[in-house]
Amino acid sequence: MSHDQFQANTHIDAMLHEIRVIEPSDAFRAKARISRADYERMYRQSLDQPDEFWGGVAGELHWNKKWDRVLDWQEPHAQWFVGGQTNVAYNALDRNIGRGLGDKRAFIWEGEDGEVRSYTYSELLREVCKAANALTALGVQQGDRVTLYMPLIPEAAIAMLACARIGAVHSVIFGGFSVSALADRIGNAQSRVVITADAGYRRGKPVDLKANVDQAAKAVSCLEKVVVVRRAATEVAWDEGRDVWWHDLVDGASDQHEAPALDSEHPLFVLYTSGSTGKPKGVLHTTGGYMVATYLTTQTVFDLRDDDIYWCTADVGWITGHSYSVYGPLLNGAAVMLYEGAPNQPDWGRFWDIIQKHRVTVLYTAPTAIRSFMQHGDEIPGRYDLSSLRLLGSVGEPINPEAWMWYYRVIGGERCPVVDTWWQTETGSIMLTTLPGAFPSKPGSAGLPMFGVEPALMTREGEELGADDGGLLVIKRPWPSMLRTVYGDDERYRKTYWGEIPHVYFAGDGARRDADGYYTIVGRVDDVLNVSGHRLGTMEIESALVSHPSVSEAAVVGRPDAVKGESVVAFILLQDGHSADAQALRAHVTREIGALARPDAIYVAEAMPKTRSGKIMRRFLRQIAAGQAIEGDTSTLEDPGVLTRIAATAAI
Ligand code: WT7
Repeated sequence: MSHDQFQANTHIDAMLHEIRVIEPSDAFRAKARISRADYERMYRQSLDQPDEFWGGVAGELHWNKKWDRVLDWQEPHAQWFVGGQTNVAYNALDRNIGRGLGDKRAFIWEGEDGEVRSYTYSELLREVCKAANALTALGVQQGDRVTLYMPLIPEAAIAMLACARIGAVHSVIFGGFSVSALADRIGNAQSRVVITADAGYRRGKPVDLKANVDQAAKAVSCLEKVVVVRRAATEVAWDEGRDVWWHDLVDGASDQHEAPALDSEHPLFVLYTSGSTGKPKGVLHTTGGYMVATYLTTQTVFDLRDDDIYWCTADVGWITGHSYSVYGPLLNGAAVMLYEGAPNQPDWGRFWDIIQKHRVTVLYTAPTAIRSFMQHGDEIPGRYDLSSLRLLGSVGEPINPEAWMWYYRVIGGERCPVVDTWWQTETGSIMLTTLPGAFPSKPGSAGLPMFGVEPALMTREGEELGADDGGLLVIKRPWPSMLRTVYGDDERYRKTYWGEIPHVYFAGDGARRDADGYYTIVGRVDDVLNVSGHRLGTMEIESALVSHPSVSEAAVVGRPDAVKGESVVAFILLQDGHSADAQALRAHVTREIGALARPDAIYVAEAMPKTRSGKIMRRFLRQIAAGQAIEGDTSTLEDPGVLTRIAATAAI
């Protein structure tokens, strides 16, 4: 459902109903942490007596000072566990060691090159304390922003936890982002310290992260120190006054560190995400509420038990990596698998090899990965012993029922429930899913609201829609892990999230709900693409294209893609006297944003299909990009002939 289509027609047409209903096995159900009756009781309490509900969950964690009030809501600003003081890293490490988990493995990490390292909770605490002392010695103080631009190596999680421990605010930038995207984000956060690595491995090749930081440093004035983890032993340029090796700084630091008590609303991290304007938003999450919600959702959605080996495949550069590779599972004392590399290194059996080798029990991954595996056939996973698996999860984009069924059948052996989890960078934790032992799954449908989440479907005008209607997915009340603001731009926060539809949270998705109350996400209704489960704003890519000397105007749309979900298609107008060089334009977008945003197809047009008021009609461009016939009313266009002429050209 496209943005303009949606505005023209506020009700989303109900799509074909998926009729399959998959029940959890009796064996799974018998041992599940949450039964259907538990869910119903807990969900009711979470809405009717939120203070009791959330106070009860928070009470399972350690607070240096108990909160005075569970929630203070001054729309659109929420404060949770007001007056409470705690420390997320203390709760994730010291608290679990105090419960007797000191010798339990916290992380089992595998590098793309096959190296394996593991850390017990006690070992991880010592590393985090050393890093906390080292950052403090560098002058990092409470509230300072520290940018992390790292591969998925244990030091990335250690650095996050060290920041959390001392009350510094981490801002993790995905290692696939380009120099200019990195520089923008360092500048926006005004970080004085960046932590990076010489290089990370991706698809067998070292990616020179330090070199990118060196370039980005030229574009910002705030940066004072660059801490470099030696990962790949590649050659790096060195600025004596600015650069310091992680091992020189951290290895000799004391492994004793007392976690300070931080205010419940103390900022924990900023994470940048795309919106419908050209400028990425720094989504700000804070301490207490985020901690409580990631703790609860990891435990209940993944039905965690003591002997699980839990693996979420997301990179720490995304919210999934924050909430479900680091904070949520560690808060629960889980053994967490981390893998540095790509799913096809050295071949498409890598994930299954990791599962077999480490006896992974819970796997949480993205539909785009599942579709790639599916494309390579049942035979590859068939070679591995996947019998350790007991639960599967999906996140990042709508999962098509075929991919869901393949995952369930081939990977889960029809034994493992599949939880499809809908949430966002902004929501901080899972909002919709079907708890695995409590409810049947409906392939393609995310399911029911999590505790404390009160969703609804609405029109743009805020009129609430009934069952079996499609509409905009909104949340009607604040929840503990919701974003608190857009870093440095509270006005944008107000407008984007609580201002589009009065008095409710709306962040861009359309959905429908069936008679059982299950929500099915239809997709974004704003100008945001979802490429391989990652959000990209069309405006961001358009600005990147227009910044190339040969391009005078650009319109970017998504095209359905069997593996990536959506791929990027660009329509451009050329500057007079320039010709189109597809390779140069793709390289330019990669340089400006990152390889994720690189257009798969570029159409050179002589004019854009615009309305008389000058608005580009993307709906028609989407049809052209998808190779469909042009359908709909073209009479509002200034020159309808433009469309047929673009459709007749070949993409470059
Ligand atoms: C957008 C958020 C949440 C972590 C990863 C992405 C889409 C996410 C699902 C799902 C259908 C989904 C939505 C959402 N999305 N999970 N299970 N079913 N759509 O985080 O980058 O903040 O993107 O991803 O469109 O708004 P994100």
